[in-house]
Amino acid sequence: MPSPLEGRRIVLGVTGSIACFKAVDLASKLTQAGAAVDVVLTRGATNFLTPLTFGSITHGPVVTDVYDPQSELSMDHIAMAERADVIVIAPAAANTIAKLAWGFADDALTTTVLASQAPVIVAPAMDANMYEHAATQENVEKLRERGVVIAGPAQGRMASGLVGRGRMVEPAEIIELTKIALGKNGAMAGRKIVVSAGGTEEPLDPVRVIANRSSGKMGFAIAEAARDRGASAVIVSAPTALPDPVGVRVVKVGTALQMRDAVFAECRDADALVMAAAVADWRPVTAAVQKMKKGESDTWTIELTKNPDILAEASGDQLVKVGFAAESEDLLENAQAKLIDKGLHLIAANDITSPGSGFAVDTNKVVLLDREGGVEELPLMSKYDVGCRLLDRVERLLGR
Ligand code: CTP
Repeated sequence: MPSPLEGRRIVLGVTGSIACFKAVDLASKLTQAGAAVDVVLTRGATNFLTPLTFGSITHGPVVTDVYDPQSELSMDHIAMAERADVIVIAPAAANTIAKLAWGFADDALTTTVLASQAPVIVAPAMDANMYEHAATQENVEKLRERGVVIAGPAQGRMASGLVGRGRMVEPAEIIELTKIALGKNGAMAGRKIVVSAGGTEEPLDPVRVIANRSSGKMGFAIAEAARDRGASAVIVSAPTALPDPVGVRVVKVGTALQMRDAVFAECRDADALVMAAAVADWRPVTAAVQKMKKGESDTWTIELTKNPDILAEASGDQLVKVGFAAESEDLLENAQAKLIDKGLHLIAANDITSPGSGFAVDTNKVVLLDREGGVEELPLMSKYDVGCRLLDRVERLLGR
């Protein structure tokens, strides 16, 4: 499954800031993900790094002047501007931000931006006082109003020694924002996809819970894949160790009952629900208010009551319902029964005993079963790619 960056044309604009070194890493990661990267350096950037630095990584053109007699591209900036799928300016110093805000075109980068219709992402990097200055704030706001995506800046220690807001965000975050910009008008644009993730926790007392081994990785990957094809993605997440994905709303819950309420609320205006969460089937009848003491007894009997089946009960006008069946035996029979019993359109049968599948790993191997009796066996692949294949099916169901 190709990365969403595969074959896309990205103009990477780099301005004069000590954060330039992060732009080298960004250029490298974008290139590794399959993007074709055209680099435009301002004069300031060339004080820190040379065109050769970037050219050696991207194997593509690196432009520093509006008119470069050495270049193979005629009118570099115009050619780059026209073929760009997205323009990323990282790091963006205060001066370039000001020029962009006011529509100046006095160097290769500002000219490229002005000549392009591609979406623009700007990652400011400067001293905290410069960033907080009213002039910069107004310029940033002007760009934002014009639809430019402003990435960061982050809080922290800067090259000057000052601590404040002005650090360039990390390349990983810029890459996520680039994928979002590229997918904006994708096949799921205008759709809302709700994904549940993680394992619910049912409290026994204030310190103990009944939990399970779900890491949340599968659900998070599906939500990211939905986001990358233009959907508005929401994760209803039981506790996980995962960071919130960029551009995805995360609703945090603890118990199965909380997950049910959040899922039902989100599904009111959703197009599809994908339940990747491992929901506890049972919860303690009562949770002790105070911590349970060990006491004299050698045993502790806990009475459990059944939790509602969120997926079976979820309903909505035209809501496409997708489930996961984590099984350790009789995979297809059990999954098929769940597909029917819970009124699903699609179920991903997941043999948790097979190598590379199941909890806490980045890969999974599933079989997709549908209502019409279709059986699609997918090979072992990344959870993101499983998400893509599953969403291909959801897209078809939504288009029916
Ligand atoms: N599910 C749910 N609410 C529950 C239990 C499960 O919404 N209380 C969802 C899961 O998120 C998953 C699907 O139903 O998408 C199947 O979950 P699974 O745990 O495999 O099945 P159960 O219905 O719990 O059946 P069993 O535990 O007996 O296999």
